[in-house]
Amino acid sequence: MRNLTAKELREMWIKFYVDKGHALIPSASLIPENDPTVLFTTAGMHPLVPFLLGEKHPCGKRLVNIQKCVRTGDIDEVGDDFHCTFFEMMGNWSLGDYFKKEKIAWSYEFLTSPEYLAIPKEDLVVSVFAGDESAPRDMECYEAWRSMGIDEGKIFFLPKENNWWILGSGVGPCGPDSEMFIDTGKPKCSVDCSPACSCGKYVEVGNDVYMQYVKKTKDGPVSPLEQKNVDTGFGFERILCLASKKDSVYDTELFVPIIKKIEEISGKYYLLNDDTKRNMRIIADHIRASVFMIADGVVPLNVEQGYVLRRLIRRSINCAYRLGFEGSRLAELVPVVAGIYSDVYPELTEKCEHIEQTIREENDRFSKTLSQGIKEFEKVAKFTQGGVLNGKTAFRLYDTFGFPLELTKELAKEKGLTVDEEGYKLAFSQHQEKSKAGNDKVFKGGLADSSIQTTRLHTAVHLLHAALRKVLGDDVYQKGSNITSERLRFDFNCDHKMTDEEKKRVEDLVNEAIDRAIPVTCEEMSLEEARKSGALGVFENKYGDKVKVYTIGDVSKEICGGPHANNTKELGHFRLVKEESSSAGVRRIKGVIESEA
Ligand code: ALA
Repeated sequence: MRNLTAKELREMWIKFYVDKGHALIPSASLIPENDPTVLFTTAGMHPLVPFLLGEKHPCGKRLVNIQKCVRTGDIDEVGDDFHCTFFEMMGNWSLGDYFKKEKIAWSYEFLTSPEYLAIPKEDLVVSVFAGDESAPRDMECYEAWRSMGIDEGKIFFLPKENNWWILGSGVGPCGPDSEMFIDTGKPKCSVDCSPACSCGKYVEVGNDVYMQYVKKTKDGPVSPLEQKNVDTGFGFERILCLASKKDSVYDTELFVPIIKKIEEISGKYYLLNDDTKRNMRIIADHIRASVFMIADGVVPLNVEQGYVLRRLIRRSINCAYRLGFEGSRLAELVPVVAGIYSDVYPELTEKCEHIEQTIREENDRFSKTLSQGIKEFEKVAKFTQGGVLNGKTAFRLYDTFGFPLELTKELAKEKGLTVDEEGYKLAFSQHQEKSKAGNDKVFKGGLADSSIQTTRLHTAVHLLHAALRKVLGDDVYQKGSNITSERLRFDFNCDHKMTDEEKKRVEDLVNEAIDRAIPVTCEEMSLEEARKSGALGVFENKYGDKVKVYTIGDVSKEICGGPHANNTKELGHFRLVKEESSSAGVRRIKGVIESEA
């Protein structure tokens, strides 16, 4: 494979596709503009969804770019050789223009031609979609790869879980994909060894998705798209790593200056031991991601994007603590990150001061939380029996107050206590499981005090749904909802902008129900019984056979997973903050509940 610098690789990608008639478009913001279902732009295609669905793109049918992305689903893997929270995706698109044959020829040329990556042909392995009930076996891709001279034995047919691509939300344009790998030459891990396994024999270099289908709802069917598209994603960091003959992305020019600076600040050598290496990699990754997020307007908060940012900064502070330096010094890494990208993202340099300040302020806030945590620790230590602080408590100190286990252990030691580390790990892994389920959507396991408020908002959503149906008519249904600890968001079908009177009437109806102090009851029944009882079943097929039906007196009856407040009086006061268009024929309401105090 050819030796390349980051600059060369960037330019090479863009030139390759511009030469083939593609228009270069800029990277969109990390914050998706029109997609409320996910927090960050997770792929190059993300900002292009409307155009993949058929809208006309002003730059034409062939596009190329390098897109900033953030994925938080694998955050706990960061520190190994490849995982990054922030990364760049080299992408190109055909919006209803060329398709599989042309794309595969170009991918093959880019990967193997001596002018481009120059990967030896014999090292190239590909996968194609094996077919299932929603789409046929992808013989077109298979034939196209064969015509490039790829041996049969190097084309793997894999099922949907490996060779089908859709956004993390599970909704939108989608289709079979064809992934490209380098065979490292390592022995097969088993007779079934394939690019689907993670033994390390095959390293993925790129993915071509053939977006010829659409999924309109998460649980709905896959239907063909009129416009057949190509969506490509080649991982910039990953390819740079291979092209610069490094074992890890952290050894590339994108990270080395950051790690050097961390060595300088901490006075420790990166390769001292596995812990130092890992901590430095986490800091480098998290601060790099934070710099890009802050530059795109994110501020540390307890909700949504701000929560992810807060966690990234706080995790870095913890790693700094382990490496023996003050969290505020992490701000010194900002100009280093900005310097690495000065040619490509000059706005990082322009915003350097603001980014540094954001990190320092978050460090101050975190220090305050830590001192509250110390008070909490003193309390629990007093009541600890048998000399061992239990693992759940240690985890709570970590989760609520950001205490790294090392800190809890140290404090415990001063009191002559030990910490149940196994119990801590168990609590931690249970939490991780839950977080994973949230994927890129939300950094789960949020702050403890948010759960009561979200429960109340959940109940408010049912009252709002009922009120809207009363005011706008019985053919109005929920189209979606999203709750954070601070507000509810509710989408529903409606063909007009709500008038001020309608909005007022809806708000009043919700508040009347709250003032009537109606108990919220829950019954389990079969789906059939639920339907017969007249319950609204917006999410019917999301649950198993038995469903929960929540009833709020004579106001509302809905199939729902809960949880809910016990009585409407717990809700306080509902305020409709905003009513706006969400998509064609769908309106969106944002609302909050405020305590009466
Ligand atoms: N959208 C595809 C991916 O992210 C290319 O892998």
